[in-house]
Amino acid sequence: MTSRTCLTVILAAGEGTRMKSSLPKVLHEIAGLPIVGHVAKAVQGAGGSDIALVVGRGADKVETSVRALVSNITVHEQVERLGTGHAVLAAQSAIEAGYDDIIVVFGDTPLIETSALEMAREKLAGGSDIVVMGFRPENPHGYGRLIEQDGRLIAIREEKDASESEKKIGFCNGGLMALRGDSALALLHMIKNENAKGEYYLTDVVEIANSQGKSVVAIEISPDNVIGINTRLELAEAEAIWQNRKRREMMLAGVSMQAPETVFFSHDTVIEADVTLEPNIVFGPGVSIASGTVIHAFSHIEGASIGANASIGPFARLRPGANLAAKAKVGNFVEVKNAKIGQGAKLNHLSYIGDATVGADANIGAGTITCNYDGYNKYHTEIGTNTFVGSNSSLVAPVSIGDNAYVASGSVITENVPADALAFGRARQEIKEGRAVQLRARYAALKLSKKAE
Ligand code: UD1
Ligand code: MG
Repeated sequence: MTSRTCLTVILAAGEGTRMKSSLPKVLHEIAGLPIVGHVAKAVQGAGGSDIALVVGRGADKVETSVRALVSNITVHEQVERLGTGHAVLAAQSAIEAGYDDIIVVFGDTPLIETSALEMAREKLAGGSDIVVMGFRPENPHGYGRLIEQDGRLIAIREEKDASESEKKIGFCNGGLMALRGDSALALLHMIKNENAKGEYYLTDVVEIANSQGKSVVAIEISPDNVIGINTRLELAEAEAIWQNRKRREMMLAGVSMQAPETVFFSHDTVIEADVTLEPNIVFGPGVSIASGTVIHAFSHIEGASIGANASIGPFARLRPGANLAAKAKVGNFVEVKNAKIGQGAKLNHLSYIGDATVGADANIGAGTITCNYDGYNKYHTEIGTNTFVGSNSSLVAPVSIGDNAYVASGSVITENVPADALAFGRARQEIKEGRAVQLRARYAALKLSKKAE
């Protein structure tokens, strides 16, 4: 990567009215990350760029959310929305700090790829003054058309200002532009609003730069990169494209999926090679899975770290703080929350294990519940290594069960169990010989007398 300094201006002052939402448009999420977060992440991926974020409606909320994701950022409010050229100048104080490269991107194009930003910067490093990222949409209506001559970009004509012949051009402005830092401000200040919309068009810098004999070029990127989100429909379409990219990336990196179209990742899911994902799995944020693990069908996993060669599901739910060591086994209808599960421990069926530590090789029987909450506070359950907890036991926290201990099925455990002990927490069974015969006779007689009434 180049050692040139860079500032990326993200324009996010749009109203977003078509989202029909009280949440600012750029804070709607794709794969659990706000739209503008995806843009910031791509910018960071390209390396070495500071960010200037231009915001309008919901400025405070947008600022807070983006600051939580990236640190090298300044936020600028565009009070009046007078066009993209005007919006970039809202970040004038940041631009004035002096950068080799200035990149302008839209805050509502979450599928922008790091490689597109790198391509633009390479062109600047190669001597261009302005680089415009073009694409060929299926339907160019509504986009600025790129007018080229002898390999140079001489103008961008907005739909509303275009002649009939210009409207026939299929090569369009994606909205992403890179400018040489030392001349950017002077060019931006020369933009006027004498056009069909009465706006300050950023795109006008192309003609202005040409009139000064500067070198302006367009390069083509894939249409996905510049898909803008205006409605919830487009939000869902972008989510689908994002998920497909991620599935592809995962499979090429060694993750097996039988039905990739039914597996949904979060923006930050980390999975090692040789993990198998069965159909219908949903990942929330903060999941990592080590090699050799199998996630069986219909599992929901969030905020969990899973060691190597573990087996999860089918129908498992791992909630935040689930921390599973290698070879752990979490079976069907088991919920784990804020719990450390030791190596080789088994939670095979129908359990809730929350706020707990389960030692290595422990066996937690079907229906075991950690009673961790009294309506006010949460308490911890400690289960030692190689313990055996019989089916349908309630472990009333705070409580601990020592290493190698044994808990009888159906127990309600309210007191600590020492290591190597056997704990019963249930009524003793009684046998009444022949009593079933008597009972049957009595019930049958009752039934007869009812009929007779
Ligand atoms: C713009 C381009 C057009 C390109 C198209 C690609 C201009 C003049 N036109 O048109 O060539 O083909 O994008 O999608 O640049 N914004 C602000 N403040 C403003 C105006 C806009 O922050 O005052 C932000 C918006 O939030 C949005 C972006 O800039 O993220 C683009 O604005 P928009 O109004 O959508 O521009 P288009 O007319 O689509
Ligand atoms: Mg637009």
